[in-house]
Amino acid sequence: MRQKANGHKSFVIWFTGLSGSGKSTLANRVEEELHQKGIKTYLLDGDNIRTGLNSDLGFSGRNRAENIRRIGEVAKLFVDAGIVVLTAFISPYRKERDFVRNLLGKGEFIEVYVKCPLEICEQRDTKGLYKKARKGEIKDFTGVNAPYEEPDKVEIMIDTDRESLNQCVNKICMFVNRYLKLQ
Ligand code: ADX
Repeated sequence: MRQKANGHKSFVIWFTGLSGSGKSTLANRVEEELHQKGIKTYLLDGDNIRTGLNSDLGFSGRNRAENIRRIGEVAKLFVDAGIVVLTAFISPYRKERDFVRNLLGKGEFIEVYVKCPLEICEQRDTKGLYKKARKGEIKDFTGVNAPYEEPDKVEIMIDTDRESLNQCVNKICMFVNRYLKLQ
C-alpha cells in the first residue's frame, strides 16, 4: 500500500568501496536524480549515522560489522515505509553486506561496487586520512592496514577512475529505473 501510494517500489541502493572511491558523491547525485523524478528517497551515510545512532562505534572489525548490521536494519525499515534508501559506507566485509542482502526481500537490494584502485583513492585523499594512516596516526585504516573484501557478484560495478561522474550516475540511474516500476 505504501509503495502504491508513492507510485514506485522501494529498495536499497547499497554503495560499497574504499574511502575516497566516490561512494558519497555518487549516492548524492543519484539521489538528486531520483528526487527530481518525484521518487521518495533517503540517504544514509557517515554524516547522519556515525554521528548519531552509531556514535558508540569505532573501526575495529567488530564495530564495523555492528555498524553495517544496524544500517541494514534501519534501511529495511525505510524500505517498509516505501522509500528508496541509498547508503554510502565502506562496508568492507562480504559477510555483512550479504547479511543485509538477506535481510531484504528479492529485488530490494542493489549492491553498487564503487571500484577505484587504492593508489587513486590515496592520491585523492579528500579528507587527508590516508596520509595520517601511512604515518601510523590512524590504525585499522581500510586499504592501508585493514582489509577491504571486494564483492564478487554485484548488481552494478562502477569504475570511478575510468568513467566520468556523469557516466557513472547515468549507469546507476538506468539500472535503478527498472527496479522502480510497480507490477
Ligand atoms: S565501515 O567500514 O564501518 O563501513 P564507514 O563507511 O562507516 O566505515 O566509515 C568510513 C569513513 O570513516 C571513512 O570514509 C573515513 O572518513 C572515516 N574513518 C575514520 N577512521 C577510519 C578507519 N580506521 N578506516 C576507515 N575509515 C575511517
